[in-house]
Amino acid sequence: MEKTFAIIKPDAFAAGNAGKILDRIYAEGFKVVGLKKIYLSKVEAEGFYYVHKERPFFAELTDFMSSGPCVVMALEAENAIMKWRDLMGATNPADAAEGTLRREFGTSIGENATHGSDAPETAAFELGYFFSGMELL
Ligand code: CMP
Repeated sequence: MEKTFAIIKPDAFAAGNAGKILDRIYAEGFKVVGLKKIYLSKVEAEGFYYVHKERPFFAELTDFMSSGPCVVMALEAENAIMKWRDLMGATNPADAAEGTLRREFGTSIGENATHGSDAPETAAFELGYFFSGMELL
């Protein structure tokens, strides 16, 4: 079993789509081992996305991620990292396949409804950024 880190981003949360996204997560067979609603500060968003700090969209990305509440989750499944990325679809909702979360709930490359870790090392950092070990029992 593998764990990955996932976010229901501020756009999807504000639009009232958190419940629908959770329904899809359970329907696909993930175990939700951690879940909380949080409201990131700009500094917390910058710390989370520090790997993108040199990118031209960094300010836009961290402004957006600190613009409203979101839901952070630890998801467990076999091949959870790849399985969650498949369910999310491509980063840009315009390129995401039919039936994926970003296609259904995302509106732009920035406001793309969900986030997911892209590798085991990233998942370890991202899970640890938001959850203590005790919260994932
Ligand atoms: P996410 O999976 O959260 O990881 C980094 C995020 O940066 C990505 O989703 C996009 O929402 C965002 N992103 C990537 N490219 C751009 C871009 N060109 N403009 C704005 N945001 C972007």
